[in-house]
Amino acid sequence: MKLIEVETYEQLSEKTSELIINKIKNDPHTKLGLATGSTPLGAYKRLIADHTKNGTSYEHVITVNLDEYVGLAESHSSSYRYYMNEELFNHINIKRENAHVPDGTAEDLDEECKRYEALIDNLGGIDLQLLGIGQNGHIGFNEPGTPFDSVTHVVELTENTRRVNGRFFKDIDEVPTRAITMGIASILKSKEIVLLISGKQKAEALHRLLHEEISEQFPASALKSHPNFTVIYDKAALEGV
Ligand code: F6R
Repeated sequence: MKLIEVETYEQLSEKTSELIINKIKNDPHTKLGLATGSTPLGAYKRLIADHTKNGTSYEHVITVNLDEYVGLAESHSSSYRYYMNEELFNHINIKRENAHVPDGTAEDLDEECKRYEALIDNLGGIDLQLLGIGQNGHIGFNEPGTPFDSVTHVVELTENTRRVNGRFFKDIDEVPTRAITMGIASILKSKEIVLLISGKQKAEALHRLLHEEISEQFPASALKSHPNFTVIYDKAALEGV
């Protein structure tokens, strides 16, 4: 586990975007694993700014998102596909067919999970997977207790996750009760993993990641067994203030 400590959220975003841009410069066919949520927003803004200013091209880049709510179509403003379109895809020259998000409206969800896992394998694996972390250590929608050998699957969302994610919905009752998520084993197949931890509300999660044993009760701890795993965190996450 490699640790990168920065002062501020802005620096965390800068560092993350640099890593991604360098990766794409070295290999224009990079396969990027992407996350939604608040944490990567600053990095996505910088990727867009760099694309506009310096012309970094996503023509051959392939992206694979971690997760999606069950039942939300791409047109729903709280779906993760909508978020990715708004926050990144609409502003760079990625090909639509190369920007993958699980289909939460699929009729057969189990088939969709199988299709998604096969897609990752057929791509030859993800080169760089970007992750955020839940306060309880979840990665993707893999909540505490998720087996480390899990692949893409449907999850029942915990009340806590629904409440925390309620900020992206008009009303908590609108938050779906299920989601499709890449599993822990799917994530661990990535060649490189970068976990972003920012803000005092994540201090306990960072502390547990750094100091606790690897355990299924704290999903992000699985990442510590990965040979190319980097955590980028800011002072607020470290100090809890
Ligand atoms: C998002 C995802 C989640 C978030 C996590 C942190 O695709 O899979 O695991 O990364 O909930 O969310 P934020 O960044 O909003 O604190």
